[in-house]
Amino acid sequence: MKNFTTLQWKGGIDGCLELTDQRKLPAQFITIQCKTPDELFDAIKTLAVRGAPAIGVAEGFGVCLAARQIKSSKLSDAVKLIEEKADYLSKSRPTAVNLFWALERMKKTACGFAVKNPNAAIDDLKQRLLAEAQKIYDEDVQMCHNIGINGEKFVPAGGAVLTHCNAGALATAGDGTALAPVFEAQRKGKKFKVYVDETRPVLQGARLTAWELHQAGIDVTLICDNMAGVLMKEGKVNAVFVGADRIAANGDAANKIGTYSLSILAKEHKIPFYVAAPSSTFDLKLKDGSQIPIEQREPHEVLNFMNIKTAPEGVKVYNPAFDVTPAKNITAIITEKGIVQCPTEEKIKKTLNS
Ligand code: MRU
Repeated sequence: MKNFTTLQWKGGIDGCLELTDQRKLPAQFITIQCKTPDELFDAIKTLAVRGAPAIGVAEGFGVCLAARQIKSSKLSDAVKLIEEKADYLSKSRPTAVNLFWALERMKKTACGFAVKNPNAAIDDLKQRLLAEAQKIYDEDVQMCHNIGINGEKFVPAGGAVLTHCNAGALATAGDGTALAPVFEAQRKGKKFKVYVDETRPVLQGARLTAWELHQAGIDVTLICDNMAGVLMKEGKVNAVFVGADRIAANGDAANKIGTYSLSILAKEHKIPFYVAAPSSTFDLKLKDGSQIPIEQREPHEVLNFMNIKTAPEGVKVYNPAFDVTPAKNITAIITEKGIVQCPTEEKIKKTLNS
C-alpha cells in the first residue's frame, strides 16, 4: 500500500538516517539525510519526521548516529557517550512516549552488550545498536499491520470514518495506526469514505493525511476542524479513528490538539470513538492523563497560516500541541495485541500482557 518510505537507515554502521521531509508535503516530496544526533534533534523538533511511532523509530536510529561519533576505543567511554546522546535526544519532544521507550531500549542494548562482551571492538557495539534500531523499525511495521487486521471490522462498509491529524504511514514505519484499519478495509474491497480534519495549526490532516489517502485511491473529503460537529449532526460520520502519543494506565489518551473536543462531539452524537496505538504508546507508570506532559509549541504556528501572517503583531498565543481524551470517551483502543473495549486499567494490562 505504502509507495514511499517515511524513514530508513542508509548504509552500514557509519550510514545515515533518511527521512521524507514532512514539512514540505504536499507541495514537494523530498528526502533529507541526518548524519548527526543534532540534525535528527532538529528534524524531530521542526516536524520533518513526526507521529509517535515514527519518532520512536527515528530515535532508535538516532543512537546509531551517536555511535558514529565515538572516538575512544574503550567500551565504557562509548557507552557513556551513547547514554549522554540518548538523554539529549530525549529532549526533542516531550509528549509521545515512543521516543523515550526507544531510547531506553537502545541504552539498555548498549549497556547489556558492553557487560556481556567486555573485550568487543567498538564496531561490534555499533553493529549491535544498528541491529536493535532496525528491529524497532521492523516491529513497528508488524505492529501497524496487526492494528490494521484488528481494527478493520470497525470501518463501516458503505459508511464514513472521520480522522484527525495524521496517524498514517507518514507517522510510522508501516501503514500507520488509526489509518491501518482503513487501509486494511480498502484491501478487503470495502467501500467507505474518510473525512479528514484539517488539523490546525500545522495542518497534518490537510497536508499529510489527505495526501496519503488520496494517493492510495481512498474516497477522502477534507474539512476544517470546526466542521466536524455539523458533519456528525447531519449523520455523515459512522466512526472516529485517531492515533495516540501516550496512553496512561487508565486509558486516558493524549493525541493531537482537537482530539478531546472530537471525542465529546462523538459521544454527544453516539458515534463510536476508536484510538489505535501500539503497545509502545502506553505509559503504564502514569496513573491517568493528567500526568502526561503536553508540549507547548511556538506562537508563530498560530499567528501564521503556511507562513502567511493571519493575526496582529504582538497578540498573545496559547499553542498546546496535544490534549488528553478521557478513557470514558473512548469506545475501544485498538492495539497490535487486541482490542480494549471501554478501556480500564485492568483490561489494558490484560491485553498488553497477552
Ligand atoms: O505533532 P505530531 O504531528 O507529531 O502529532 C502526531 C499525532 O498526534 C498523531 O496522531 C499521533 O502521534 C499518533 S501517530 C500514529
